[in-house]
Amino acid sequence: MERRSIDYSWIILIVIAVIAIFAYKPVVGYLRERSSQSTGATDYQKAKEVFYDYQVWGHPNRSCAMCHAKDYEVNPEHPDIDMPDFKYVQLKGVARKYHYTLLGSPSDLVKRINRCLHSPTRIGYGTLTQQDERIRLLLIYLKKL
Ligand code: HEC
Repeated sequence: MERRSIDYSWIILIVIAVIAIFAYKPVVGYLRERSSQSTGATDYQKAKEVFYDYQVWGHPNRSCAMCHAKDYEVNPEHPDIDMPDFKYVQLKGVARKYHYTLLGSPSDLVKRINRCLHSPTRIGYGTLTQQDERIRLLLIYLKKL
């Protein structure tokens, strides 16, 4: 009696297809998360620098952190802080306070940033638009507070 050989190749194909379907999502999700985490981390680092940098606004010793972070640093070459409004004001949950949530717009928060940025008693720099890179970075930083 002749034994018929069974062709298993279609079973193997189905197994591969099933694995591909189930593995696709977690693998792609994992890769996406990793890439967004790494760009997120460097963006956050840059954002923190803009917030703390005492020279970014074209003045030797003015930064957001001086009024909004307890661990601010002064420029050692210009240690005097000459902003009349200089005092510690804690920033906490400002993104939510100004409705910059998942579906919300940052425009109210940008207005608040510009108030400190523009006021001659604070940074005294001017007003920036939402498209400005420094505003984009400040928003990233403020969102985490
Ligand atoms: C010289 C001090 C000073 C500096 C520098 C300063 N701010 Fe402020 N900021 C204040 C004061 C005082 C308030 C609270 C009163 C007000 O809203 O005007 C405030 C309020 C805010 C608020 C609203 C907080 C809330 O809870 O409603 C945000 C956001 C903010 N500042 C962001 C910034 C950013 C970003 C920078 C840097 C570009 C900056 N500030 C620089 C003094 C300062």
